[in-house]
Amino acid sequence: IEHRPLYGKHVLVTAGPTHEPIDPVRYLANRSSGKQGYAIAAAAAAAGARVTLVSGPVNLRTPLGVDRIDVESAEDMAKAVKAALPADAAVMVAAVADWRPRDYRDEKLKKRASAPPALILTENPDILATIAASPQRPDLLIGFAAETQNVIENARKKRKAKGVDWIVANDVSGDVMGGEDNQVHLILEGKAEEWKPMSKQDVATRLVSKIAEKLTADV
Ligand code: C5P
Repeated sequence: IEHRPLYGKHVLVTAGPTHEPIDPVRYLANRSSGKQGYAIAAAAAAAGARVTLVSGPVNLRTPLGVDRIDVESAEDMAKAVKAALPADAAVMVAAVADWRPRDYRDEKLKKRASAPPALILTENPDILATIAASPQRPDLLIGFAAETQNVIENARKKRKAKGVDWIVANDVSGDVMGGEDNQVHLILEGKAEEWKPMSKQDVATRLVSKIAEKLTADV
């Protein structure tokens, strides 16, 4: 039990970007390698959890013992997340596109000599906020917040606004995109823990041990 503290728990993780199709060959996306989310899924599985990883398009191997569900768009990710519930804990690491093209063209848009086409966007569902407000809300719900300035302050606000338990405030002002290292702070109710820069694996291990502490303390 000691080294598999999440045995018997179901942990849901989202990771990677979403791709929002414009036409059969083009899409809009956020920048995300998926590395941090995959590291968290791997660490949760290593801690004994049953792990469902809902993943946007990434070039990463499925971690050992993880049940991976591949999706493309935010709407597909929202459906896959709902289908994967209930979960004891959910860590929403995915960089979900805030908007998608309103009108999908099922034929490739032609490059014309005249003006380029205008893209009309519409809002995507906020998966995290939806789950937070749902009857299937996991006991421990954790969001990520990528910020470039006032990192802790903005993350505090986001924790409240989204109705989640913890926010991992991700300082992306440095060189973390696609890299091996990360700079995060953990925002809990009424306090913030400042973490030193460390590898994405170490962030994952540390976060998962926090999750294990919390889930086992509540029993
Ligand atoms: O509001 P913001 O996009 O900064 O919030 C980030 C957090 O919300 C992340 O945990 C991300 O996975 C989640 N999110 C989501 N669905 C969206 C947008 C963000 O689940 N449409």
